[in-house]
Parts: sequence; structure tokens; C-alpha cells
Amino acid sequence: MSVLIAPSILSADFAALGEAIAAAERGGADVIHVDVMDGHFVPNISIGIPVVRSLRRVAHVPLDVHLMITDPDRYLEAFAEAGAAMISVHVEVLPHLHRTVQAIQALGLKAGVALNPATPLAALEQIAGDVDHVLVMSVNPGFGGQHFIASTLGKIASARELLDRLRSRAALEVDGGVKVDNAADIVRAGADILVSGSAIFSSPDYGATIKAMRQAGQAMQKATRAAGAVAARRS
Ligand code: DX5
Ligand code: ZN
Repeated sequence: MSVLIAPSILSADFAALGEAIAAAERGGADVIHVDVMDGHFVPNISIGIPVVRSLRRVAHVPLDVHLMITDPDRYLEAFAEAGAAMISVHVEVLPHLHRTVQAIQALGLKAGVALNPATPLAALEQIAGDVDHVLVMSVNPGFGGQHFIASTLGKIASARELLDRLRSRAALEVDGGVKVDNAADIVRAGADILVSGSAIFSSPDYGATIKAMRQAGQAMQKATRAAGAVAARRS
């Protein structure tokens, strides 16, 4: 798949979310990433179901809802009804992960599992074949504008290997500290979807930033695939 850009509205002006989404869409946003925080799983509170419902009315691209909450099972139906197209849940809070993933898919949505930076990839082994996407956090969730944790590049590469080895169809999404400058490295490691908040919404021209990020990612993806094809021919 080609690289998708998912602007995170956490860093947008909450008094003007409709305009922020329209501008991001004009700039080429593929999905809109919506960060839901409960002040319990993460040390911050953001937005919830009514906001998703309002965003659905104005957005033309799918809403990618990232649930950073302790008890996501209780709210899946409400988020689906509000208009989420994709839901990611954190493996750290779910003892019955398949049940949750199946519940999301039964609502007609794409289901993803999210891993905090310190959560080992082993958590993915048993679920990778059943999810639509995997969200690797490259910051500790809770806030926008944090620095990308460099060691997660290796983790992203290992996640890619794991998905390929298990022949999983899941897209690999990376969230936290993603900027134009590191987009190529993140795509080289194997990411398909780049979530980016502050880099886009703190920039003077959202569209230009989205385009630059996509260009950096696509160029790297092309180069990586070409190198892979050469390596395959030589082996
Ligand atoms: C962090 C959120 C991210 C955040 C990314 O808890 O899950 O989606 O908005 O923001 P930046 O791109 O500023 O790190
Ligand atoms: Zn997020």
C-alpha cells in the first residue's frame, strides 16, 4: 500500500475543528486521527463520542479513533454509531483481546491494536492475523508535541518483520513525534500510516506539510521496494 497520512486533531484548535479538518483534507489527509483520552489510562483528558459525531458530519475521509482509555469495550458501539471507521485499542488494558477485536469488526469497523513504546511486540504474535491495523506508539501516549523515541525505529522494523512473517494483512501505523524530517526513516522501517499532530497543525500551511511528509515517505517506500527487488533477483 502507499503511505497514508493521518493528521491527529489533538494539536488542532478545538474551537475550530471543522476548519482544521477541511484544511487537512484539502492538503491531502487520507484519514483523520482522533485521540480519545480518559485521564486514567493516560494522564490527560481529550475528547469523546459527541465530538466524533460532530466530526463525522464535516469529514469526508474516514475517522481513525485511537482509544487511550482503560475500558474500551464499554464504548465501542457508541463510537461506531458516532461514525468511527477505524478503532484502535491498547493491548495493555485488554485481557481478552480477540473478543474486543471481533466486537469492533462485528460493528463493521476496522480494528487495530495499539502498543505503548515499552510494550513488547510479543503481544502481537497471537493477534496479528486478526487485526486490520497495528498502531506502534513512538511516544508515551497522552500528549501531542512529544519527541519521537528513537529506539522505536527498531521496534517498527521488527513489527514489520513480524507482520510479514505471519502473512498478516494488517497495516502498520506509527503515532507520536512524526515529522517531515523523520517520515522517511519511519517508512523505511516499514510503516504504512503516519499519524502526525503537532508537525501538521503547528505549521503555517497544513497542506504543504502533509505533502512534504507524504513525498518523503513515498520516495523512501519506492527506494526500499526497488532495493528489495534487486536483492530478490540476486538471491
Ligand atoms: C499521543 C497521541 C498522538 C498525538 C500525536 O498520545 O496518540 O496521536 O496526537 O501528536 P504528535 O504528532 O504531536 O506527536
Ligand atoms: Zn493517537
